[in-house]
Amino acid sequence: MTDVFKAVEVCPSVYWVGAVDWAVRDFHGYLTSRGTTYNAYLVLAERITLVDTVKAGFFDEMMGRVASVVDPDRIDYVISNHAEPDHSGELLAAIEAIGPKKVCHTMWGSTARMARAVAEGLSAGGAEVKLMSLKSCHRSDIATEMLDAGALVVGTPTLNNQMFPTLADCLTYLKGLKPAPLVGAAFGSFGWSGEGAGQAGEVLTEMGAEMAAEPLRSKYVPDQSLLGQCFELGTAVAESLSRKLADKP
Ligand SMILES: Cc1cc2nc3c(=O)[nH]c(=O)nc-3n(C[C@H](O)[C@H](O)[C@H](O)COP(=O)(O)O)c2cc1C
Repeated sequence: MTDVFKAVEVCPSVYWVGAVDWAVRDFHGYLTSRGTTYNAYLVLAERITLVDTVKAGFFDEMMGRVASVVDPDRIDYVISNHAEPDHSGELLAAIEAIGPKKVCHTMWGSTARMARAVAEGLSAGGAEVKLMSLKSCHRSDIATEMLDAGALVVGTPTLNNQMFPTLADCLTYLKGLKPAPLVGAAFGSFGWSGEGAGQAGEVLTEMGAEMAAEPLRSKYVPDQSLLGQCFELGTAVAESLSRKLADKP
């Protein structure tokens, strides 16, 4: 079956070997009424290189396109350029199948990793933490928690020079509820311009939050040192919170 799928020549020696997802209708908040592509490229240079892979479930399609140009065993390098699962979902399968000499790569879910490290810092600082993802929680769930909370720490990747739309939506809603002043902090992963965390911090300030620290940003995947800074952000928020509670009459 794999010979159904053919590589598309982009220019001499460079081929598109990705996959077409005809069914997806929402991609990173974009309406994709005609589906989308997952883009992987094969470069027939001195070292034959596969750049990126495809979303999980599209392995056979990608390998079929690769095999239409070159025996996959001849691939020397696999470069994983992009962290998101639509580029790296089949990375491990590709490495297993191809056995390349070299792999460079990153992981996805960078802001979520940061969030877990911030939560560790908050706990270590003595605060009770509730980690909530806007992928699975409704804004009204967050609002309910916020009413009893002393601090609100928000994380967001940067998408098109802005904070992520679901966080913008949630913060607009929370701001409208005019909460009692909270301790606040913002963080997030970005790729090149990185406005997201700063914008989220600005909204927290407009909500009257007392910011415990400057927004913390990670270029793509946070390394150990950056995760350490996330932990410290958590402890800084916990400290501000206990100071605030101690000052309360
Ligand atoms: C559609 C799209 C648009 C993006 N736009 C920006 C941008 O404008 N500025 C920026 O710094 N990074 C941008 N990025 C990069 C992401 O912020 C970066 O990949 C980040 O590590 C994602 O974090 P996450 O793993 O928590 O989702 C964009 C990524 C995607 C997929």
